[in-house]
Amino acid sequence: MDKKIFELIKKEAGRQKEGIHLIPSENFASEEVMKVLGSVLTNKYAEGYPGKRYYQGNGFVDEIESLAIERGKKLLGVEHLNVQPYSGSPANSEVLMALAEVGDTICGLKLSAGGHLTHGHPKITFSGKFFRSVQYDVEPDGRIDYEKLGELVKETRPKIIFAGTTAYPYILDFKKFGEIADSVGAWLIADISHIVGLVIGGAHPSPVPYVHIVTSTTHKSLRGPRGAIIGVTKKGISFAKSFGILDLEKRIDRAVFPGMQGGPHENTIGALAVAFNEADSEEFNDYAHQIVKNAKTLADSLKEKGYKVFGTENHLMLIDVGKERGKEVAVALEKANIFVNSNMVPHDEGSPMRPSGIRIGTPAMTTRGFREKDFIKVADLIDRVCCEVNKNEANLEGNLAEIDIEVKNWMREFS
Ligand SMILES: Cc1ncc(COP(=O)(O)O)c(C=O)c1O
Repeated sequence: MDKKIFELIKKEAGRQKEGIHLIPSENFASEEVMKVLGSVLTNKYAEGYPGKRYYQGNGFVDEIESLAIERGKKLLGVEHLNVQPYSGSPANSEVLMALAEVGDTICGLKLSAGGHLTHGHPKITFSGKFFRSVQYDVEPDGRIDYEKLGELVKETRPKIIFAGTTAYPYILDFKKFGEIADSVGAWLIADISHIVGLVIGGAHPSPVPYVHIVTSTTHKSLRGPRGAIIGVTKKGISFAKSFGILDLEKRIDRAVFPGMQGGPHENTIGALAVAFNEADSEEFNDYAHQIVKNAKTLADSLKEKGYKVFGTENHLMLIDVGKERGKEVAVALEKANIFVNSNMVPHDEGSPMRPSGIRIGTPAMTTRGFREKDFIKVADLIDRVCCEVNKNEANLEGNLAEIDIEVKNWMREFS
């Protein structure tokens, strides 16, 4: 037995059990999902797609991948689903590869405004390096101004528009995004990585009627394994046909394999099938709605205490903790066993390395059983840590350690 690794895993399991986890992109996958991830499916090579593999011995794997596809299609309401992308970043790159040529114009929300790196972040990313990237911003209140976006799109005429976010605390108006993309004949990609669980559970409007392609990670609010999916909508298929592309689904599949990837991770795909099955339930719908209720309670409680909070209408919020102080506060919270990430706030006067905010989300602790009353307590704990940081007295470390013990004792009440 590799003692070193297993001891470290044991410690990480303890950290996950004893802490308050508020990073909005994290969650706790079920035992069953983890069992499939660690199963014999990891041993099998299966380049290709069900029924068309380059390796023998894929009869059972074909059935598993087909189940994942059918379950996901039903839950999301898409016409076609590729479940092979290794993660969210490859999925978005694969869509770019399928629909655009190097040098084409693409449009996405700025990273500093809550967009994702793969939506055209300039210079250092695949999407920013190989395409001409036009980026839109949020207003000082943190919201997208759809009229402004419409004007930008008319001026710059992108081939692809991304509607998707990683740190945006409001409902995305996919209908408006659809109208904007239609006005210039652009492809519209909804990257619902963060909100997929809310969409499936009915706690956020679905983009499917308004967009051409849907991408999503599967390990955030969906509570599945680390992976991603690419869906093709009815609107996408008829849009493609309108300019002579009769095989949009194949184009997407070919961009995934052999375009960007080799053998699919069938253990992940099996675990995804399980996660889809778990999400196809009343219980999951309740979970999705509880995430939003919990987030609202936490945001309201922090506002009552005088914090400048952006949001929330979904699972996350941004808290302005003072110019360039986000990292300092996130580190202090970690010492108290509360895990968040530092993040830029809208029109931040700091920088990505020295942001002025923290990003907080409720999916993970809602999975652990937290309800509104628990998030009122979380607001108190966050406030106490921020007060300690502001006082910055000699006993700061000792005071944070006291909160840490309090958190650990409290977390024993949750399985
Ligand atoms: C909106 C969005 N798209 C894509 C990704 C990338 O996913 P991954 O980290 O799995 O590559 C993320 C991850 O945070 C995300 O939030």
